[in-house]
Amino acid sequence: MPSQNLTLNSFALDVHRGLSHSPKSLPCKYFYDAQGDALFQQIMTLDEYYLTRCEREIFLTQKQHILDLFYGDRQPFTLVELGAGDGSKTKILLDYFLSQAVDFIYAPVDISENILTHLTETIQADLPNLTIAPIQGDYVHTDFLDHDLSRRKILLFLGSTIGNLSDQETADFLQNITRNLDPGDLIMLGFDLMKDPQIILKAYDDSQGVTRAFNLNLLERINRELEGDFQLDHFQHCPIYHPLTGEAQSYLVSTCTQTVTLNKLSQSYIFEAWEAIHMETSRKYSRKQIKELAEQHHFRVLHTFSDQQKYYVNSVWQKLAD
Ligand SMILES: C[S@@+](CC[C@H](N)C(=O)[O-])C[C@H]1O[C@@H](n2cnc3c(N)ncnc32)[C@H](O)[C@@H]1O
Repeated sequence: MPSQNLTLNSFALDVHRGLSHSPKSLPCKYFYDAQGDALFQQIMTLDEYYLTRCEREIFLTQKQHILDLFYGDRQPFTLVELGAGDGSKTKILLDYFLSQAVDFIYAPVDISENILTHLTETIQADLPNLTIAPIQGDYVHTDFLDHDLSRRKILLFLGSTIGNLSDQETADFLQNITRNLDPGDLIMLGFDLMKDPQIILKAYDDSQGVTRAFNLNLLERINRELEGDFQLDHFQHCPIYHPLTGEAQSYLVSTCTQTVTLNKLSQSYIFEAWEAIHMETSRKYSRKQIKELAEQHHFRVLHTFSDQQKYYVNSVWQKLAD
């Protein structure tokens, strides 16, 4: 551990752990500082980043069917959105639910205080009648599910964010969620489907270089917050896709032998030429795998919505009785 007698935050500890390990890695939840949030909002507008377009299409064209699943029994609910981001797609549903006089509270959860503030302000301006209860924090800690026990819970986990979790993290996450939901509660998850590998690769290697900048921004964040000396032009953005596992992976590859020092930690890290840092995995699923995942974790698949191109799905699961 760093030798200085410093109180280190979890960002510093996780960065140290990731850069000391072989192979090197950095947790993707740290992409989202103010600059990272802005870059991700830009990614969502890219032609190559089809995921946002598909999920938006599903909400626009199938919002009534979604509401039937959520509110067919007219039970008031709390809509908890995990990793809500700027909520731009969710607003389509929120707006529609309000227009149908649905009795619900919206509780967006995000690790980034910056994007949560932006979301809250834009929603309060655009949808003044909505009751919103934002929660800043890590969605792996599920305390937020204790919030309002008098209402049924409906969880949203959109944007294919589940694909950023490893198999073990997905299992732990779903187990945690299962423990904290009551039978009958629902979760709607956005999954990106396996498809032509070239289409997938382009989504993580766009022609304008925004995804490259999004990855490099984490090195910039480390420079800024941990007094590092990463030289960004000595790292190459390298996305790959494994059609067998369905994993799109992003790496930053060191183009030369170099040493990076983080002054705040009094630590240096040696990079060999062409050594890679694993930055993010974005897993793609088959429909069969989605159904199996639901069943393994005691959920019943109520309905799976798809866009016209069949690139992406939103799957609605119901928690079964134990
Ligand atoms: C890929 S973006 C998706 C945003 C939004 N769900 C959408 O579909 O547009 C992931 C979001 O999850 C948040 N996030 C990432 N890891 C998180 C964590 N462990 N806990 C809470 N929020 C997290 C990020 O700050 C970011 O806003």
